[in-house]
Amino acid sequence: MNDLDIVILAAGIGKRMNSNTPKVLHKIGNKHMLQYVIETALNLNPRSINIVYGFCGELLKSVINGAFPNNNFNWHVQELQLGTGHALKCTLNGLQNKGKTLILYGDVPLIGSDILQSMINIYNNNVIILVSKIDNPDGYGRIIRDTKNNVLKIVEDKDLDYDQKFIQEINTGFYIFPNEFIHTNINQLTNNNKQSEYYLTDLVGLAYNYLEIKALENGNTLKLLGVNDKEQLEKIERIYQSEIAIKLLKTGLSIIDRNRLDIRGDVTFGKDCLIDINCILEGSVELGCNVTIEANCILRNVRIGNNVVIKAFSYIEDSCIDNECVIGPFARMRSDVHISNNSRIGNFVEIKKSTINQNTKINHLSYIGDAQVGENVNIGAGVITCNYDGKNKNKTVIEDGSFIGSGSMIVAPVTIGENSLIGAGSVITLNTPSNELTLSRSKQVTIKGWKKRKK
Ligand code: UD1
Ligand code: CA
Repeated sequence: MNDLDIVILAAGIGKRMNSNTPKVLHKIGNKHMLQYVIETALNLNPRSINIVYGFCGELLKSVINGAFPNNNFNWHVQELQLGTGHALKCTLNGLQNKGKTLILYGDVPLIGSDILQSMINIYNNNVIILVSKIDNPDGYGRIIRDTKNNVLKIVEDKDLDYDQKFIQEINTGFYIFPNEFIHTNINQLTNNNKQSEYYLTDLVGLAYNYLEIKALENGNTLKLLGVNDKEQLEKIERIYQSEIAIKLLKTGLSIIDRNRLDIRGDVTFGKDCLIDINCILEGSVELGCNVTIEANCILRNVRIGNNVVIKAFSYIEDSCIDNECVIGPFARMRSDVHISNNSRIGNFVEIKKSTINQNTKINHLSYIGDAQVGENVNIGAGVITCNYDGKNKNKTVIEDGSFIGSGSMIVAPVTIGENSLIGAGSVITLNTPSNELTLSRSKQVTIKGWKKRKK
């Protein structure tokens, strides 16, 4: 029978973050910390997930409901943040009388469901706490043991006596209690401590006389770190990034330097892909086979086919690049761009909301927006589709086989007919016929007898 309730504490202000955003909405790998904790909770298949919210509560609720549209969480408001024990008290009506409750903190994002499952596995109507020994225990609650080495209580960092400060066994902030014990004892918590808060950790001391307290030790301290300030946030970001990089390397992605790659979403890749230094891959990034991403590229929601090179310093968003293409260096694709097979987009080319068909070249210094560009088109240096008339965005169609001379302005809406040749420097405002040379260019004049002015 599934008798597991989960409580996630996420109401705290996070004073030490010095931020207007609630702490648990700060991000690791571009995902809110609380999202990781909820995903982990869902993996355990509990009968209920109870989230305590408070500071910026409506924002928090809407962000999380948006991220998990198919789940029903029990939301419990904690109007005043009077401590973790008080936060648990706010969830009582979501916890049945029978069964067990696993309590998680929303600011410990890297905990995996495997560690929590091992806590559940040893539960036997007792109290389970997850502990760890760390070199620098400052800030954490410490595990105090009796003379028989049984767990006696947890003392918060601020409330420690001088010699307790040296205890390296810490409370990681994960517990299982029998629901019955919570219901009967939660009202006994007091706020008689340095922070005048109702500590959840005091429930452990209260259990000492009634229940077995089992401390499960976990050596993987990196997964158990909490985030209370920006320094810890950065530390956990780096741990997270290093874990992802290792996973990608182990599954066959070549990464030049694991410390100079940031993954902020999901990446899939085929054989023989390589990522050079200082790249950021965000959202959903799909790489086919034999894709090289050179240094300093940013890819956000991008699908790339096979045998593609993205040269250095390219910035590509919400776009799709087919096979055998070479993009960059310094190329920018700014959403809704589709580049077909064997095309070449060169340096300082910006493309937006456009389709570029196969074997087409746009090699230097161009802006292509709201355009449909055919196959085998050659767009010269400095060509601009003038898509905006101050009010509307207008469409440019450049049909197959056309050649657009350098420095041309294509004023949309306009269609360049198949196999057109547009003379360099033209301003094209009317549709051009297929298979013809069109140019609009003022006549070149030479002023005879001109003399250089004397200074
Ligand atoms: C807590 C533990 C400490 C442990 C550490 C592990 C307590 C009293 N202390 O300390 O023993 O070593 O975590 O990381 O529990 N929250 C609420 N409402 C409140 C206060 C906090 O929902 O009124 C939430 C916070 O949003 C946060 C979590 O509870 O997600 C933990 O609170 P925090 O203030 O960060 O506790 P720590 O000082 O880290
Ligand atoms: Ca904390």
